[in-house]
Amino acid sequence: ANIEIGIIGSGSMGSGMTLLFAEHGSTIGCFDTDQKAVQAILDQAKKTETGDDSRVHGFNSLKDLVNAFIKDPNGGHERRIIVLSLPHGKVVDGVCEELLPILDKGDVVVDGGNEWWESTERRQAKAKERGIEWIGMGVSGGYQAARHGPSMSPGGTKEAYDFVEPYLKKWAVKTPEGEPCVCYVGPGGSGHYVKMIHNGIEHAHLSILCEIRAVMAYQFGLSNDEISNYFEKWYRSGPLRGNYLIGIGYKGLRFKKGGGIEDKRGIVEDVEDKVTQDVDLSEGTGTWSTMEIATRHVAAPAIAASHQLRIISSDKSERLEVVKNMSLPQPREDKLGKGVKEDVMKSVEKAVYGCILGGFVQGLAIIAKASQEQKWDISLAETMKIWRAGCIIQSDGICDLLLPHLTKFPPSEPHNLLQSIPEVAKELASTYAAVKEVYMLAVAADAVAPAVGATLEWMKSVSGKNLPTDFEEMELDYFGHHNYDIKGHPEPGHSKGKYHTVFAPA
Ligand code: 6PG
Repeated sequence: ANIEIGIIGSGSMGSGMTLLFAEHGSTIGCFDTDQKAVQAILDQAKKTETGDDSRVHGFNSLKDLVNAFIKDPNGGHERRIIVLSLPHGKVVDGVCEELLPILDKGDVVVDGGNEWWESTERRQAKAKERGIEWIGMGVSGGYQAARHGPSMSPGGTKEAYDFVEPYLKKWAVKTPEGEPCVCYVGPGGSGHYVKMIHNGIEHAHLSILCEIRAVMAYQFGLSNDEISNYFEKWYRSGPLRGNYLIGIGYKGLRFKKGGGIEDKRGIVEDVEDKVTQDVDLSEGTGTWSTMEIATRHVAAPAIAASHQLRIISSDKSERLEVVKNMSLPQPREDKLGKGVKEDVMKSVEKAVYGCILGGFVQGLAIIAKASQEQKWDISLAETMKIWRAGCIIQSDGICDLLLPHLTKFPPSEPHNLLQSIPEVAKELASTYAAVKEVYMLAVAADAVAPAVGATLEWMKSVSGKNLPTDFEEMELDYFGHHNYDIKGHPEPGHSKGKYHTVFAPA
Protein backbone atom coordinates (compact mmCIF):
# COMPACT_ATOMS: atom_id res chain seq x y z
CA ALA A 1 0.00 0.00 0.00
CA ASN A 2 3.02 2.33 0.39
CA ILE A 3 1.91 4.19 3.46
CA GLU A 4 3.69 7.27 4.81
CA ILE A 5 2.16 7.42 8.27
CA GLY A 6 0.81 4.65 10.49
CA ILE A 7 -1.84 5.27 13.12
CA ILE A 8 -2.42 2.76 15.89
CA GLY A 9 -5.75 3.22 17.60
CA SER A 10 -8.97 3.88 15.69
CA GLY A 11 -11.09 5.41 18.45
CA SER A 12 -12.65 8.85 18.12
CA MET A 13 -9.27 10.67 18.26
CA GLY A 14 -7.42 8.13 16.10
CA SER A 15 -10.10 8.06 13.42
CA GLY A 16 -10.24 11.86 13.33
CA MET A 17 -6.47 12.08 12.93
CA THR A 18 -6.46 9.39 10.22
CA LEU A 19 -8.92 11.35 8.10
CA LEU A 20 -7.19 14.66 8.85
CA PHE A 21 -3.73 13.37 7.89
CA ALA A 22 -5.14 11.80 4.70
CA GLU A 23 -6.86 15.06 3.83
CA HIS A 24 -3.46 16.76 4.06
CA GLY A 25 -2.12 14.45 1.37
CA SER A 26 -0.43 11.59 3.28
CA THR A 27 -1.16 7.95 2.65
CA ILE A 28 -2.20 6.52 5.99
CA GLY A 29 -2.29 3.01 7.38
CA CYS A 30 -4.42 2.34 10.42
CA PHE A 31 -4.55 -0.53 12.85
CA ASP A 32 -6.69 -1.33 15.85
CA THR A 33 -7.38 -4.60 17.64
CA ASP A 34 -11.02 -3.65 17.07
CA GLN A 35 -11.23 -4.27 13.35
CA LYS A 36 -14.75 -2.86 13.22
CA ALA A 37 -13.31 0.51 14.21
CA VAL A 38 -10.79 0.26 11.37
CA GLN A 39 -13.58 -0.59 8.93
CA ALA A 40 -15.58 2.40 10.18
CA ILE A 41 -12.66 4.69 9.27
CA LEU A 42 -12.39 3.15 5.81
CA ASP A 43 -16.13 3.69 5.31
CA GLN A 44 -15.84 7.28 6.45
CA ALA A 45 -12.85 7.87 4.20
CA LYS A 46 -14.97 6.78 1.25
CA LYS A 47 -17.52 9.44 2.16
CA THR A 48 -15.03 12.33 2.26
CA GLU A 49 -15.80 15.26 0.03
CA THR A 50 -13.29 14.29 -2.62
CA GLY A 51 -14.49 10.70 -2.56
CA ASP A 52 -10.80 9.77 -2.71
CA ASP A 53 -10.36 6.91 -0.27
CA SER A 54 -7.11 5.57 -1.67
CA ARG A 55 -5.07 7.38 0.95
CA VAL A 56 -6.47 5.39 3.91
CA HIS A 57 -5.62 1.71 4.34
CA GLY A 58 -6.66 -0.67 7.10
CA PHE A 59 -4.46 -3.41 8.56
CA ASN A 60 -5.21 -6.33 10.84
CA SER A 61 -1.80 -6.67 12.43
CA LEU A 62 0.96 -4.37 13.60
CA LYS A 63 3.42 -6.29 11.45
CA ASP A 64 1.41 -5.75 8.26
CA LEU A 65 1.13 -2.04 9.08
CA VAL A 66 4.87 -1.75 9.66
CA ASN A 67 5.68 -3.63 6.43
CA ALA A 68 3.38 -1.46 4.35
CA PHE A 69 5.56 1.66 4.63
CA ILE A 70 7.14 3.11 1.47
CA LYS A 71 10.26 1.18 0.49
CA ASP A 72 13.60 2.96 0.07
CA PRO A 73 15.87 2.30 -2.96
CA ASN A 74 17.89 -0.28 -0.97
CA GLY A 75 14.89 -2.49 -0.32
CA GLY A 76 14.42 -1.24 3.24
CA HIS A 77 11.76 1.21 4.32
CA GLU A 78 11.68 4.98 4.39
CA ARG A 79 11.95 6.29 7.94
CA ARG A 80 8.60 5.48 9.48
CA ILE A 81 6.30 7.72 11.48
CA ILE A 82 3.83 5.85 13.64
CA VAL A 83 1.27 7.80 15.66
CA LEU A 84 -0.36 6.18 18.68
CA SER A 85 -3.83 7.18 19.76
CA LEU A 86 -4.46 4.82 22.64
CA PRO A 87 -5.50 4.88 26.29
CA HIS A 88 -2.48 5.62 28.48
CA GLY A 89 -0.60 3.13 30.61
CA LYS A 90 -0.76 -0.62 30.03
CA VAL A 91 -2.24 -0.42 26.54
CA VAL A 92 0.64 1.74 25.30
CA ASP A 93 3.14 -0.49 27.13
CA GLY A 94 1.71 -3.51 25.30
CA VAL A 95 1.98 -1.84 21.91
CA CYS A 96 5.47 -0.60 22.75
CA GLU A 97 6.58 -4.21 23.51
CA GLU A 98 5.22 -5.47 20.23
CA LEU A 99 6.19 -2.53 18.07
CA LEU A 100 9.78 -1.72 19.00
CA PRO A 101 11.24 -5.09 17.89
CA ILE A 102 9.70 -4.80 14.41
CA LEU A 103 10.70 -1.19 13.73
CA ASP A 104 14.01 -0.04 12.25
CA LYS A 105 16.63 2.36 13.53
CA GLY A 106 15.57 5.96 12.99
CA ASP A 107 11.83 5.26 12.95
CA VAL A 108 9.74 7.66 14.99
CA VAL A 109 6.84 6.74 17.25
CA VAL A 110 4.62 9.65 18.27
CA ASP A 111 2.43 8.87 21.28
CA GLY A 112 -0.49 11.24 20.81
CA GLY A 113 -2.52 10.14 23.83
CA ASN A 114 -2.47 11.67 27.30
CA GLU A 115 0.33 10.08 29.31
CA TRP A 116 2.16 10.39 32.59
CA TRP A 117 5.47 12.03 31.62
CA GLU A 118 7.66 9.49 33.44
CA SER A 119 6.06 6.62 31.50
CA THR A 120 6.94 8.49 28.31
CA GLU A 121 10.56 8.85 29.43
CA ARG A 122 10.70 5.15 30.33
CA ARG A 123 9.54 4.25 26.81
CA GLN A 124 11.90 6.79 25.25
CA ALA A 125 14.80 5.02 26.98
CA LYS A 126 13.59 1.62 25.76
CA ALA A 127 13.16 2.88 22.20
CA LYS A 128 16.60 4.49 22.28
CA GLU A 129 18.22 1.10 22.94
CA ARG A 130 17.06 0.17 19.44
CA GLY A 131 17.83 3.56 17.87
CA ILE A 132 14.13 4.36 17.65
CA GLU A 133 12.75 7.80 18.52
CA TRP A 134 9.75 8.20 20.81
CA ILE A 135 7.91 11.50 20.93
CA GLY A 136 5.34 12.11 23.67
CA MET A 137 2.82 14.53 22.24
CA GLY A 138 -0.24 16.17 23.73
CA VAL A 139 -3.12 16.43 21.27
CA SER A 140 -5.82 18.80 22.37
CA GLY A 141 -9.23 19.90 21.23
CA GLY A 142 -11.26 16.70 21.44
CA TYR A 143 -12.38 14.48 18.59
CA GLN A 144 -13.60 17.34 16.41
CA ALA A 145 -10.19 18.99 16.56
CA ALA A 146 -8.53 15.64 15.86
CA ARG A 147 -10.56 15.61 12.65
CA HIS A 148 -10.06 19.23 11.63
CA GLY A 149 -6.80 20.33 13.30
CA PRO A 150 -5.69 19.89 16.91
CA SER A 151 -3.30 21.91 19.04
CA MET A 152 -0.22 19.76 19.73
CA SER A 153 2.63 19.74 22.25
CA PRO A 154 5.40 17.33 21.18
CA GLY A 155 8.41 16.45 23.34
CA GLY A 156 11.40 14.24 22.61
CA THR A 157 14.73 14.69 20.82
CA LYS A 158 14.99 17.79 18.65
CA GLU A 159 16.21 15.65 15.76
CA ALA A 160 13.06 13.50 15.83
CA TYR A 161 10.89 16.59 16.18
CA ASP A 162 12.56 18.22 13.17
CA PHE A 163 11.82 15.11 11.15
CA VAL A 164 8.09 15.13 11.97
CA GLU A 165 7.68 18.91 12.10
CA PRO A 166 6.59 19.41 8.48
CA TYR A 167 3.72 16.98 9.05
CA LEU A 168 2.77 18.41 12.44
CA LYS A 169 2.68 21.93 11.02
CA LYS A 170 0.34 20.77 8.27
CA TRP A 171 -1.98 18.93 10.65
CA ALA A 172 -2.11 21.49 13.44
CA VAL A 173 -4.91 23.98 13.81
CA LYS A 174 -3.93 27.46 12.58
CA THR A 175 -4.47 30.78 14.31
CA PRO A 176 -6.40 33.42 12.35
CA GLU A 177 -2.93 34.73 11.36
CA GLY A 178 -2.12 31.31 9.89
CA GLU A 179 0.33 30.18 12.61
CA PRO A 180 0.17 26.44 13.34
CA CYS A 181 -0.47 25.64 17.00
CA VAL A 182 2.45 23.27 17.47
CA CYS A 183 6.12 23.70 18.30
CA TYR A 184 8.98 21.82 19.89
CA VAL A 185 8.24 21.81 23.62
CA GLY A 186 11.48 20.20 24.80
CA PRO A 187 13.20 16.90 25.49
CA GLY A 188 11.97 13.82 27.36
CA GLY A 189 8.43 13.82 28.66
CA SER A 190 8.04 17.61 28.43
CA GLY A 191 5.40 17.46 25.68
CA HIS A 192 3.14 15.16 27.67
CA TYR A 193 3.86 17.26 30.75
CA VAL A 194 2.61 20.43 29.08
CA LYS A 195 -0.54 18.60 27.95
CA MET A 196 -1.09 17.24 31.46
CA ILE A 197 -0.98 20.77 32.88
CA HIS A 198 -3.17 21.99 30.02
CA ASN A 199 -5.70 19.50 31.34
CA GLY A 200 -5.14 20.63 34.94
CA ILE A 201 -5.99 24.18 33.82
CA GLU A 202 -8.89 22.74 31.82
CA HIS A 203 -10.25 21.09 34.97
CA ALA A 204 -10.03 24.37 36.89
CA HIS A 205 -11.79 26.23 34.08
CA LEU A 206 -14.51 23.56 33.78
CA SER A 207 -15.12 23.76 37.52
CA ILE A 208 -15.20 27.56 37.61
CA LEU A 209 -17.72 27.64 34.78
CA CYS A 210 -19.99 24.95 36.22
CA GLU A 211 -19.92 26.63 39.64
CA ILE A 212 -20.80 30.02 38.14
CA ARG A 213 -23.44 28.57 35.84
CA ALA A 214 -25.10 26.93 38.86
CA VAL A 215 -25.14 30.25 40.71
CA MET A 216 -26.67 31.92 37.65
CA ALA A 217 -29.25 29.17 37.26
CA TYR A 218 -30.23 28.41 40.83
CA GLN A 219 -29.45 31.57 42.79
CA PHE A 220 -30.21 34.18 40.14
CA GLY A 221 -33.03 32.11 38.67
CA LEU A 222 -31.82 32.58 35.09
CA SER A 223 -33.06 30.22 32.38
CA ASN A 224 -30.70 28.21 30.22
CA ASP A 225 -31.31 30.58 27.34
CA GLU A 226 -30.59 33.63 29.49
CA ILE A 227 -27.36 32.12 30.78
CA SER A 228 -26.46 31.09 27.27
CA ASN A 229 -26.93 34.67 26.11
CA TYR A 230 -24.56 35.96 28.79
CA PHE A 231 -21.98 33.32 27.91
CA GLU A 232 -22.27 34.25 24.26
CA LYS A 233 -21.78 37.92 25.06
CA TRP A 234 -18.64 37.13 27.08
CA TYR A 235 -17.40 34.83 24.32
CA ARG A 236 -17.83 37.44 21.59
CA SER A 237 -16.11 40.40 23.23
CA GLY A 238 -14.30 41.50 26.34
CA PRO A 239 -11.55 39.79 28.31
CA LEU A 240 -13.18 36.34 27.99
CA ARG A 241 -13.43 36.59 24.21
CA GLY A 242 -12.65 33.45 22.34
CA ASN A 243 -12.76 31.23 25.44
CA TYR A 244 -13.49 27.80 24.02
CA LEU A 245 -15.31 26.38 27.07
CA ILE A 246 -17.56 29.45 27.29
CA GLY A 247 -18.15 29.09 23.53
CA ILE A 248 -19.30 25.48 23.74
CA GLY A 249 -21.09 26.34 26.99
CA TYR A 250 -23.43 28.81 25.33
CA LYS A 251 -24.11 26.46 22.47
CA GLY A 252 -24.65 23.46 24.74
CA LEU A 253 -27.07 25.35 26.99
CA ARG A 254 -29.25 26.10 23.98
CA PHE A 255 -29.65 22.44 23.10
CA LYS A 256 -33.24 21.44 23.73
CA LYS A 257 -34.14 17.95 24.74
CA GLY A 258 -36.76 17.40 22.07
CA GLY A 259 -34.76 19.37 19.54
CA GLY A 260 -37.93 21.39 18.87
CA ILE A 261 -40.52 23.62 20.50
CA GLU A 262 -42.57 20.76 22.03
CA ASP A 263 -39.95 20.11 24.67
CA LYS A 264 -38.17 23.25 25.75
CA ARG A 265 -36.12 21.68 28.49
CA GLY A 266 -32.41 21.96 27.97
CA ILE A 267 -30.30 18.83 27.54
CA VAL A 268 -28.33 20.01 30.57
CA GLU A 269 -31.40 19.30 32.76
CA ASP A 270 -30.99 15.61 31.97
CA VAL A 271 -27.29 15.32 32.76
CA GLU A 272 -26.47 13.73 36.13
CA ASP A 273 -24.19 15.87 38.31
CA LYS A 274 -21.36 13.35 38.50
CA VAL A 275 -17.99 13.53 36.75
CA THR A 276 -15.97 10.33 36.71
CA GLN A 277 -12.51 9.51 35.41
CA ASP A 278 -12.40 7.52 32.22
CA VAL A 279 -9.56 5.08 32.45
CA ASP A 280 -8.77 4.31 36.04
CA LEU A 281 -9.90 6.15 39.13
CA SER A 282 -6.36 6.58 40.38
CA GLU A 283 -4.97 7.90 37.11
CA GLY A 284 -5.54 10.61 34.57
CA THR A 285 -4.36 14.09 33.83
CA GLY A 286 -6.29 15.68 36.71
CA THR A 287 -4.84 13.27 39.24
CA TRP A 288 -1.34 13.65 37.83
CA SER A 289 -1.57 17.47 37.81
CA THR A 290 -2.61 17.39 41.45
CA MET A 291 0.29 15.07 42.28
CA GLU A 292 2.68 17.48 40.55
CA ILE A 293 1.31 20.43 42.51
CA ALA A 294 2.15 18.59 45.72
CA THR A 295 5.52 17.14 44.81
CA ARG A 296 6.84 20.24 42.99
CA HIS A 297 5.62 22.46 45.81
CA VAL A 298 3.67 24.85 43.60
CA ALA A 299 0.51 26.64 44.75
CA ALA A 300 -2.29 25.88 42.29
CA PRO A 301 -5.34 25.62 44.55
CA ALA A 302 -7.97 26.16 41.83
CA ILE A 303 -6.62 23.16 39.93
CA ALA A 304 -6.52 21.04 43.09
CA ALA A 305 -9.99 22.18 44.21
CA SER A 306 -11.54 21.38 40.84
CA HIS A 307 -10.13 17.88 41.00
CA GLN A 308 -11.50 17.44 44.51
CA LEU A 309 -14.98 18.53 43.41
CA ARG A 310 -14.79 16.04 40.58
CA ILE A 311 -13.93 13.26 43.04
CA ILE A 312 -16.73 14.31 45.41
CA SER A 313 -19.22 14.44 42.54
CA SER A 314 -18.36 11.07 41.08
CA ASP A 315 -20.23 8.76 43.47
CA LYS A 316 -23.75 10.12 43.59
CA SER A 317 -25.34 7.25 45.49
CA GLU A 318 -22.83 7.60 48.33
CA ARG A 319 -23.39 11.35 48.32
CA LEU A 320 -27.14 10.90 48.66
CA GLU A 321 -26.60 8.81 51.79
CA VAL A 322 -24.50 11.64 53.28
CA VAL A 323 -27.21 14.14 52.31
CA LYS A 324 -29.59 12.22 54.57
CA ASN A 325 -27.09 12.00 57.43
CA MET A 326 -25.97 15.64 57.40
CA SER A 327 -29.15 17.47 56.33
CA LEU A 328 -27.22 20.63 55.47
CA PRO A 329 -28.99 23.52 53.76
CA GLN A 330 -29.02 22.98 50.02
CA PRO A 331 -28.33 25.84 47.56
CA ARG A 332 -31.20 28.29 47.72
CA GLU A 333 -32.88 30.11 44.93
CA ASP A 334 -32.44 33.82 45.56
CA LYS A 335 -34.04 35.47 42.60
CA LEU A 336 -32.69 38.98 42.14
CA GLY A 337 -34.52 41.91 40.60
CA LYS A 338 -33.76 42.66 36.97
CA GLY A 339 -31.83 45.89 37.68
CA VAL A 340 -29.71 44.23 40.32
CA LYS A 341 -29.13 41.27 38.05
CA GLU A 342 -27.52 43.30 35.27
CA ASP A 343 -25.25 44.94 37.78
CA VAL A 344 -24.32 41.67 39.37
CA MET A 345 -23.79 40.11 35.96
CA LYS A 346 -21.00 42.59 35.26
CA SER A 347 -19.30 41.31 38.42
CA VAL A 348 -19.96 37.73 37.39
CA GLU A 349 -18.19 38.25 34.06
CA LYS A 350 -15.27 39.88 35.81
CA ALA A 351 -15.14 37.13 38.43
CA VAL A 352 -15.08 34.44 35.74
CA TYR A 353 -12.28 36.34 34.01
CA GLY A 354 -10.24 36.55 37.22
CA CYS A 355 -10.70 32.84 37.92
CA ILE A 356 -9.89 31.75 34.35
CA LEU A 357 -6.80 33.98 34.32
CA GLY A 358 -5.85 32.57 37.72
CA GLY A 359 -6.01 29.04 36.28
CA PHE A 360 -3.48 30.01 33.62
CA VAL A 361 -1.16 31.70 36.12
CA GLN A 362 -1.25 28.63 38.37
CA GLY A 363 -0.75 26.13 35.53
CA LEU A 364 2.13 28.05 33.95
CA ALA A 365 3.84 28.19 37.35
CA ILE A 366 3.79 24.38 37.54
CA ILE A 367 5.25 24.08 34.04
CA ALA A 368 8.00 26.61 34.84
CA LYS A 369 8.95 24.77 38.03
CA ALA A 370 9.02 21.36 36.37
CA SER A 371 10.97 22.77 33.44
CA GLN A 372 13.63 24.13 35.80
CA GLU A 373 13.84 20.92 37.79
CA GLN A 374 13.91 18.58 34.78
CA LYS A 375 16.08 20.97 32.72
CA TRP A 376 13.54 20.89 29.89
CA ASP A 377 13.91 24.55 28.89
CA ILE A 378 10.21 24.89 28.14
CA SER A 379 9.28 28.34 26.86
CA LEU A 380 6.07 29.56 28.47
CA ALA A 381 5.54 31.88 25.50
CA GLU A 382 5.74 28.96 23.04
CA THR A 383 3.43 26.97 25.32
CA MET A 384 0.92 29.79 25.24
CA LYS A 385 1.25 29.92 21.45
CA ILE A 386 0.39 26.20 21.23
CA TRP A 387 -2.75 27.02 23.24
CA ARG A 388 -3.76 29.96 21.01
CA ALA A 389 -6.26 27.89 19.03
CA GLY A 390 -7.85 24.47 18.82
CA CYS A 391 -7.34 23.43 22.43
CA ILE A 392 -9.82 23.25 25.28
CA ILE A 393 -8.34 26.14 27.29
CA GLN A 394 -8.14 28.48 24.29
CA SER A 395 -8.91 31.99 25.52
CA ASP A 396 -8.03 34.70 23.01
CA GLY A 397 -8.35 37.64 25.39
CA ILE A 398 -6.08 36.05 27.99
CA CYS A 399 -3.59 34.97 25.35
CA ASP A 400 -3.42 38.55 24.08
CA LEU A 401 -2.73 39.68 27.64
CA LEU A 402 -0.05 37.11 28.51
CA LEU A 403 1.84 36.51 25.26
CA PRO A 404 3.54 39.88 24.75
CA HIS A 405 4.93 39.65 28.30
CA LEU A 406 5.90 35.97 28.24
CA THR A 407 7.93 36.40 25.05
CA LYS A 408 10.37 38.60 27.00
CA PHE A 409 11.46 35.73 29.24
CA PRO A 410 13.99 32.95 28.65
CA PRO A 411 12.84 29.30 28.86
CA SER A 412 11.54 28.03 32.24
CA GLU A 413 10.70 31.58 33.28
CA PRO A 414 8.91 33.32 34.83
CA HIS A 415 8.11 30.92 37.63
CA ASN A 416 5.66 33.39 39.17
CA LEU A 417 3.84 35.60 36.69
CA LEU A 418 2.44 37.73 39.51
CA GLN A 419 5.94 38.57 40.71
CA SER A 420 7.61 39.03 37.33
CA ILE A 421 4.87 40.65 35.24
CA PRO A 422 3.29 43.57 37.15
CA GLU A 423 0.78 44.12 34.32
CA VAL A 424 -0.63 40.60 34.80
CA ALA A 425 -0.66 41.02 38.59
CA LYS A 426 -2.57 44.31 38.22
CA GLU A 427 -5.04 42.76 35.79
CA LEU A 428 -5.74 39.88 38.17
CA ALA A 429 -6.02 42.29 41.10
CA SER A 430 -8.63 44.28 39.18
CA THR A 431 -10.94 41.25 39.35
CA TYR A 432 -10.53 40.70 43.10
CA ALA A 433 -13.60 42.66 44.23
CA ALA A 434 -15.76 40.84 41.67
CA VAL A 435 -14.48 37.37 42.62
CA LYS A 436 -15.15 38.24 46.27
CA GLU A 437 -18.64 39.59 45.55
CA VAL A 438 -19.67 36.58 43.52
CA TYR A 439 -18.16 34.10 45.95
CA MET A 440 -19.95 35.82 48.85
CA LEU A 441 -23.24 35.52 46.97
CA ALA A 442 -22.50 31.85 46.42
CA VAL A 443 -21.63 31.32 50.08
CA ALA A 444 -24.74 33.18 51.24
CA ALA A 445 -26.88 30.90 49.09
CA ASP A 446 -25.05 27.73 50.21
CA ALA A 447 -23.93 27.19 46.62
CA VAL A 448 -21.02 24.88 45.85
CA ALA A 449 -18.12 26.97 44.49
CA PRO A 450 -14.77 25.46 45.55
CA ALA A 451 -12.68 26.54 42.55
CA VAL A 452 -13.98 30.11 42.74
CA GLY A 453 -13.35 30.12 46.50
CA ALA A 454 -9.89 28.62 46.03
CA THR A 455 -9.08 31.36 43.52
CA LEU A 456 -10.16 34.05 45.94
CA GLU A 457 -8.11 32.59 48.78
CA TRP A 458 -5.15 32.13 46.46
CA MET A 459 -5.31 35.78 45.37
CA LYS A 460 -5.41 36.91 48.98
CA SER A 461 -2.66 34.64 50.20
CA VAL A 462 -0.12 34.98 47.38
CA SER A 463 -0.34 38.74 47.78
CA GLY A 464 -0.76 38.70 51.55
CA LYS A 465 1.63 40.94 53.43
CA ASN A 466 0.85 39.11 56.65
CA LEU A 467 -0.50 35.59 56.58
CA PRO A 468 -1.97 33.87 59.63
CA THR A 469 0.91 31.40 59.52
CA ASP A 470 2.95 33.18 62.22
CA PHE A 471 0.90 31.36 64.85
CA GLU A 472 1.23 28.07 62.95
CA GLU A 473 5.01 28.49 62.86
CA MET A 474 5.07 29.21 66.59
CA GLU A 475 3.07 26.10 67.39
CA LEU A 476 5.27 24.02 65.10
CA ASP A 477 8.32 25.29 66.92
CA TYR A 478 6.63 24.60 70.28
CA PHE A 479 5.96 20.93 69.63
CA GLY A 480 8.34 20.10 66.83
CA HIS A 481 11.47 22.30 67.17
CA HIS A 482 10.53 23.57 63.73
CA ASN A 483 12.53 26.82 64.04
CA TYR A 484 11.26 30.21 62.86
CA ASP A 485 12.44 33.46 61.32
CA ILE A 486 12.26 36.72 63.30
CA LYS A 487 9.50 39.05 62.10
CA GLY A 488 10.77 41.59 59.59
CA HIS A 489 13.88 39.58 58.75
CA PRO A 490 12.73 36.68 56.60
CA GLU A 491 15.39 34.54 54.98
CA PRO A 492 15.02 34.51 51.19
CA GLY A 493 13.50 31.55 49.36
CA HIS A 494 12.05 28.57 51.16
CA SER A 495 14.83 28.33 53.75
CA LYS A 496 13.99 27.25 57.25
CA GLY A 497 14.16 29.76 60.10
CA LYS A 498 17.12 29.84 62.45
CA TYR A 499 15.40 30.64 65.76
CA HIS A 500 13.99 28.29 68.34
CA THR A 501 12.30 28.87 71.67
CA VAL A 502 12.11 26.27 74.40
CA PHE A 503 8.47 26.81 75.29
CA ALA A 504 8.27 24.07 77.85
CA PRO A 505 11.12 22.49 79.78
CA ALA A 506 11.86 18.94 78.68
C1 6PG B 1 -8.19 17.85 25.29
C2 6PG B 1 -8.76 17.18 26.51
C3 6PG B 1 -8.65 15.70 26.49
C4 6PG B 1 -9.11 15.22 27.85
C5 6PG B 1 -10.47 14.67 27.92
C6 6PG B 1 -11.00 14.90 29.29
O1 6PG B 1 -7.31 18.67 25.46
O2 6PG B 1 -8.67 17.56 24.20
O3 6PG B 1 -8.04 17.67 27.60
O4 6PG B 1 -7.36 15.30 26.23
O5 6PG B 1 -8.28 14.29 28.41
O6 6PG B 1 -11.34 15.21 27.00
O7 6PG B 1 -11.04 13.74 29.91
P1 6PG B 1 -10.54 13.52 31.39
O8 6PG B 1 -10.52 14.84 32.06
O9 6PG B 1 -11.54 12.60 31.96
O10 6PG B 1 -9.17 12.95 31.29
